[in-house]
Amino acid sequence: MSKPRNILVTSALPYANGPIHLGHLVEYVQTDIWVRFQRLRGHSCYYVCADDAHGTPIMLCAERDGVTPEQLIERIGREHRADFADFLIGFDNYHSTHSPENRQLCEEIYQKLCAAGFVEKRGVQQAYDPERGIFLPDRYIRGRCPRCAAEDQYGDSCEACGATYAPTELGEPRSVLSGARPEQRESEHYFFRLPLLEGVLRKWMHSGSLQSEVLNKLEEWFQAGLRDWDISRDAPYFGFRIPNISEEKYFYVWLDAPIGYLASFLNLCQRRGLDFDAYCRRGADTELYHFIGKDIIYFHGLFWPAMLHVAGYRKPSAVFAHGFLTINGQKMSKTRGTFLTARAYLEHLHPEYLRYYLGCRLDAGVDDIDFNLKDFQLRVNSDLIGKFVNIASRCALLLQRHCGGRLAERLDEPGLFQETAVAADPIAEAYEARDYARALRTVMALADRVNQYLARRRPWELARRDPPPSELQEICSTGLNCFRQLAIYLEPVLPATAERVRRFLGVSGWSWEDAARPQLGSAIQPYKPLHTRVAAPDVSALLQASAPAQAPAAAPVRSEQGTGSVAPVIDIKEFARLDLRVARITRAQNVPKADRLLRLELDLGEAGRRVVLAGIRGAYQAEELEGRLTILVANLEPRKMRFGLSEGMVLAAGEDGEGIFLLSPDQGARPGMQVR
Ligand code: MSP
Ligand code: ZN
Repeated sequence: MSKPRNILVTSALPYANGPIHLGHLVEYVQTDIWVRFQRLRGHSCYYVCADDAHGTPIMLCAERDGVTPEQLIERIGREHRADFADFLIGFDNYHSTHSPENRQLCEEIYQKLCAAGFVEKRGVQQAYDPERGIFLPDRYIRGRCPRCAAEDQYGDSCEACGATYAPTELGEPRSVLSGARPEQRESEHYFFRLPLLEGVLRKWMHSGSLQSEVLNKLEEWFQAGLRDWDISRDAPYFGFRIPNISEEKYFYVWLDAPIGYLASFLNLCQRRGLDFDAYCRRGADTELYHFIGKDIIYFHGLFWPAMLHVAGYRKPSAVFAHGFLTINGQKMSKTRGTFLTARAYLEHLHPEYLRYYLGCRLDAGVDDIDFNLKDFQLRVNSDLIGKFVNIASRCALLLQRHCGGRLAERLDEPGLFQETAVAADPIAEAYEARDYARALRTVMALADRVNQYLARRRPWELARRDPPPSELQEICSTGLNCFRQLAIYLEPVLPATAERVRRFLGVSGWSWEDAARPQLGSAIQPYKPLHTRVAAPDVSALLQASAPAQAPAAAPVRSEQGTGSVAPVIDIKEFARLDLRVARITRAQNVPKADRLLRLELDLGEAGRRVVLAGIRGAYQAEELEGRLTILVANLEPRKMRFGLSEGMVLAAGEDGEGIFLLSPDQGARPGMQVR
């Protein structure tokens, strides 16, 4: 075996303002498989991550929920950790960028950038929301696309035609927060002088093992010319204040986020007495890898190595980018009903099924990965269970019933064991190269060979003879030994299954090399089925879980009895069955071809989000509703309408011919509050 390596691995830090979803899991599962593989091979491999807790969206999200940003990131951090643990993502440390270690490292690195002359201050013009008193990131400005004239497009790009532009080019721009027309205001900002580092970056990119797709991207950016990078933000902002300047400025979240990798590791080092400098400063005998999505190559391929270089830290050995997850061929999106959270998945299916399926779809490239539900069911049932698990269920019972539950002293077919053993190298190469699809194809081809062998030797028929012939034990032992080899090869992908296989075989641990030696003569434990097949209803339940926030909707409340008399008396218990909530209309749109309906996206704070189709178009323009509070019947059964699902009903007063009056709570109410 090769000399043990010392490796530090990270996955990108998820934002602390939303749940972990299946798209995220592509990355954490990809990284976790690689890390577990390295450890199984006997290398030292630390895996750290953290929540990305700073920035405008998190600040606004907290404000909307009526909590402090600290409270929000505490709650989300807890949820993220639970999701990762349940998907068997084996972090050594899961920290937060809002931590003392991160503040300390940010200040230190920033000061080094300043001291080396890489930070420059200058004035910039920026969009400002005069009503909310806040500078607006591009995403918080919407308006008409300057190219195709589509309405209601983001400040940086058009979803209709794909154009990218500056927010100042939008027609009729308005702030998403208040609806006000943004003003241009001048403010002093701090810039990192990236262009001075082009030489350093070029050298770095050719020294490491970067993917060709990443190299091409970097080359494109060099061609276009590197630009100074704005690393500061104005108050109000949730982040670290820039030290030693008189104005109130904050580090831009993308400055402190990657430093969060180091901070999480520093926190681990302090707790476990590890050598931080060996991995992060000197770096001579250690390796550092960042797993990321292809959307954030810019930050990891340019700014990050540049900052590390100037601040005297080691640069990454490589940055590994992956593609985006689609669901049944569609981009993940709440409105399309293809947004699946980690938690919703876990309510229906085993986490290792997803790990296995993603493994089958992952290679070293950056192409998008489709989570096709039919294919998912097929792969799990026919490969994982039909091929791999099947070997154990075929052999274990026979060995128990007819051979005293003990493995034979010799194998019936050592050649098959040998064939499975020599596959260890190609499988390891595939894992190392992050070509898990290839690794798993090889494993399943070996499983086919073992099943063919069993079909040929028919131990279940031999078992019917009285007494069973002595080769029965040797045949079952051949099957189970090959099964054990495959379980070792699958351990990076299926760590919980591997643990159960070890218990069944009565061993406490194993390493990659153990696949070369058979386990003979020892007792096995009673076999319990390892997995059950995925049933079609589970898969459709999954689809339902991803359906747009269920939906019915909203029609104005109209008294069936007319207005003269009130409805029959009900008691307080009957009233209490209604769950009425304060909701903020975050988005309102006309429903094409339905002239009475508006589609409302509602925010219920802690109680989540809903989409409701409301019959109020006659009385309101979509835009005027955005941002306003109303009351939602939150526990009304979702209603499937011709134009989509409506997940509740907003309350409005009205009588025929007399308009529609949407109800609103008084000032001070916040989304999610119960109405009683
Ligand atoms: N906070 C930043 C990363 C900072 S790293 C110093 C961020 N967060 S994120 O929550 O938006 O994404 C976290 C990771 O998940 C990113 O690498 C991103 O590419 C990945 N993915 C998010 N959605 C994804 C899919 N639909 N499919 C695959 N990966 C996805 O970016
Ligand atoms: Zn457009």
